[in-house]
Amino acid sequence: MNKNFYITTPIYYPSAEFHIGHCYTTIIADAIARYKRLAGYDVFFQTGTDEHGLKIENKAKEKGVTPKEYVDVIIDNAKDLWQKLNISYDYFIRTTDEHHIERVQKIFEKLYNQGDIYKGEYKGLYCVPCESFWTESQLVDGKCPDCGREVNLVTEEAYFFKLSKYQKRLEEFYEENPNFIAPVSRKNEMLNNFIRPGLEDLCVSRTSFKWGIPVTFDEKHVIYVWIDALTNYITSLGYPDITPEFEKYWPADLHLVGKEIVRFHTIIWPALLMALDIPLPKQVFGHGWLIIDGGKISKSLGNYKDPRDYINTYGVDAVRYFALREVPFGSDGTFSESALITRTNADLCNILGNLVSRTIQMGIKYFEGNVKNSKVYEDIDNDLLDSVKNLRAKVDGKIDELKINEALEEIFDTLRKCNKYIDDTTPWTLAKDESNYPRLETVIYNLLEAIRVCATMLQAFIPETANKIFAGLKIDNNNFENIYDNIEEYHLGLEKPANLFERIKEN
Ligand code: MSP
Repeated sequence: MNKNFYITTPIYYPSAEFHIGHCYTTIIADAIARYKRLAGYDVFFQTGTDEHGLKIENKAKEKGVTPKEYVDVIIDNAKDLWQKLNISYDYFIRTTDEHHIERVQKIFEKLYNQGDIYKGEYKGLYCVPCESFWTESQLVDGKCPDCGREVNLVTEEAYFFKLSKYQKRLEEFYEENPNFIAPVSRKNEMLNNFIRPGLEDLCVSRTSFKWGIPVTFDEKHVIYVWIDALTNYITSLGYPDITPEFEKYWPADLHLVGKEIVRFHTIIWPALLMALDIPLPKQVFGHGWLIIDGGKISKSLGNYKDPRDYINTYGVDAVRYFALREVPFGSDGTFSESALITRTNADLCNILGNLVSRTIQMGIKYFEGNVKNSKVYEDIDNDLLDSVKNLRAKVDGKIDELKINEALEEIFDTLRKCNKYIDDTTPWTLAKDESNYPRLETVIYNLLEAIRVCATMLQAFIPETANKIFAGLKIDNNNFENIYDNIEEYHLGLEKPANLFERIKEN
């Protein structure tokens, strides 16, 4: 079995500081990457920044700095944000990296030399903020369908990629690889709205701005965004050189992208790869947006805070958990501070925090922190023990289907059962009579084991909290593959974990 796993986020535009929407994709990618690592995969998790283009050139001009100076500040902040969010990326690619630039130039030359790129003239409706060309029929009320702003008619000499040539092969590819685009609704949208109506050749160079990668054989042109951006997924592995990294990780297992860029990843990107004659990624998943006050998160609306404010106030895992749990992955969902508080209180504080604190406290109070498996089982234990035993397989299944919120629901369902088990077994009543101690010890032991298994899974989602729980259980063997083989017969030296989750006051 192939145990390599290559997962990517989009490379983000550093045109403004990152917001919770950027965190959303990145946190989810991180949880999947961590989960796969824990399951024994050799993971390559890549994120980065898409730094060229007119918008950034203009922003830098406004500020009186060079484009590189402009983006450097934003990228330092982004890297700091990823660190604070415990994002475990293996590689951060910047499209201004020398390696990337050289490799994109080689790719462009190759496509030109083989006739997949040709020189022509571009007439199009261009949206500056989105850096996108649109056809008349794609406009909504004559405006950009993405941002609703004015578009301008532009004519200029440009290079084109023969996208139209790949229409049939794309349709066949979709047919043969039904899981290539997920969720399936996004696939139908691509087929019906874009591919079947007919693909037009794609403008891949510009002469009207300078902030981009120059075309080596025609220096007044810079390579226009998509060839520069999409190829990040392979230039990082050394392509066009066929390096050991490329051989190991390509094709990517999963590109996570927001719904507005599914089109680029499922039409342009596969066509480019077909032209380069290299395999296509296994899956592109188009997720929904986090929305604030019913609309897109946007700098110009000023409707968002620096995500580090939420981390500082509520803790990193409250933010991570919200992103992973609140919205069915694929759909749009609302982000608000009050929803974040409600979710944290309901799940992290009431279900998880409470359970861990009371169980460990009982272990300390009744058994001085040393609890062994005294094996005085009763029927009432079955529901909990079954739930624990089946958890790994259930969560694996949900992760494979990218139902991330449901994966967490499974874990929290087991945690909820633990709380019910405490209410049903009433350990404090058992503790009244010394002769019940073997049974009491079994009850607490079962709870500790359930917590161990849940925390082992939770490492992928809320790693800081999982580590605090392991510290409380005095466990450092948190191997995931052997989650059930390494049954701990003893829990020795229990210690109440410091500040797991405290109830946040709702305003
Ligand atoms: N640079 C391109 C992507 C090139 S990938 C080869 C781009 N950048 S972006 O910064 O505008 O957005 C990138 C991604 O950020 C979106 O696809 C999406 O994954 C994420 N999001 C930005 N705002 C978002 C929300 N409000 N909600 C959820 N995700 C959002 O497009």
